Amino acid sequence: MKNPFIYNSPVIGKDFFNREKTLKKIISEVLVGKTQGDVWVTGERKTGKTSLLKYIHEDYKKNIPKTVKIYGSVKELEPVFAFANVQYCRTEDEFFNEMWQSLKNEQDLKFFIPDNPQKNFTNAVKQTYQNGFYIVFLIDEFDAFLETVAIENAKNIRNFVNKFNSILNHFSGFNRKIFSCIFTSNQDFIELNQKYQLKITGSGIIAQSYDLLWFLKKDMKLLTDKYLTKNSNISFTLKELDTLYKYTQGYPYFTQRILHFMFEYKLENDKGKIDDKIIGEFAKKEYEKTIKFWAGQNMTNRTQTKLNELLKGLGKNLFDTALKILVEYSKSKF
Ligand SMILES: Nc1ncnc2c1ncn2[C@@H]1O[C@H](COP(=O)(O)OP(=O)(O)O)[C@@H](O)[C@H]1O
Ligand SMILES: [Mg+2]
Repeated sequence: MKNPFIYNSPVIGKDFFNREKTLKKIISEVLVGKTQGDVWVTGERKTGKTSLLKYIHEDYKKNIPKTVKIYGSVKELEPVFAFANVQYCRTEDEFFNEMWQSLKNEQDLKFFIPDNPQKNFTNAVKQTYQNGFYIVFLIDEFDAFLETVAIENAKNIRNFVNKFNSILNHFSGFNRKIFSCIFTSNQDFIELNQKYQLKITGSGIIAQSYDLLWFLKKDMKLLTDKYLTKNSNISFTLKELDTLYKYTQGYPYFTQRILHFMFEYKLENDKGKIDDKIIGEFAKKEYEKTIKFWAGQNMTNRTQTKLNELLKGLGKNLFDTALKILVEYSKSKF
């Protein structure tokens, strides 16, 4: 029997759980708001940022109106979503190229000038708009790219943000918005603005911002009901789900990871009850492993700083550390 709990890749389609309210708000903000706006989604590692964007790209777009009315114009355009992961872009050119490529995946684009990614990007946006489409770029890991730009000189990030803001809000030749963006980030929009003095109004990218919340206690039951089909013969008791919540606080990745384990355990042990201790021991191992991994090169600066601070006072007890991080997160999230 296949284990239905997925923890090692973004989830879409029937595997995507919850987030209905967030999706509604986000989509109405970028498409049917008073003005077509932009949205900034903040979430820690593995809380579902990529899943959210991919779900919009692959599934959710079926639920939205076929056409949208463009603010300040009589035009009705068809929405089109373009997904771009900009985590590994090192330069502005690479960023604009990634954005252009993402649109190229959706549209038949005619113009291409070698060695001018920004021009290719703006040409593509303009052409798409004139062909009757309103683009929503789904930009994954935007802060990772901004941080990369800032490494050399903090001024570069301000220049880039100013430039992108002017393309976004006063598109040349139109002098207004002709596309929208949904950004995902590990870092809060305001925090990042303060860190680099981006100035939210005037020269910064103005976006509505949302925190990607962790699952709630009541979601543990809803989540397992969604994944466990009636004929799987495996179920979890409320006590087991309480334990799950106790150890994860609803952190999406750890919730799924531990449920995956619990399912496996039940299969191997003839569907018997799982002792709290067994769940706890697995969670401990998992946290140790993950935190070690996150502490490697793959961790964002912000998480790293947070972890380092915590580790200093705690010696080697990673489990305590993990719990402290969770407590810290849950305090800030709820
Ligand atoms: N909407 C969701 N429904 C179910 N599981 C989710 C959801 N969002 C995240 N997860 C869990 O978290 C894991 C990480 O999701 P991902 O989208 O890759 O996060 P991020 O991009 O924030 O790192 C997924 O593999 C899955 O286990
Ligand atoms: Mg991701």
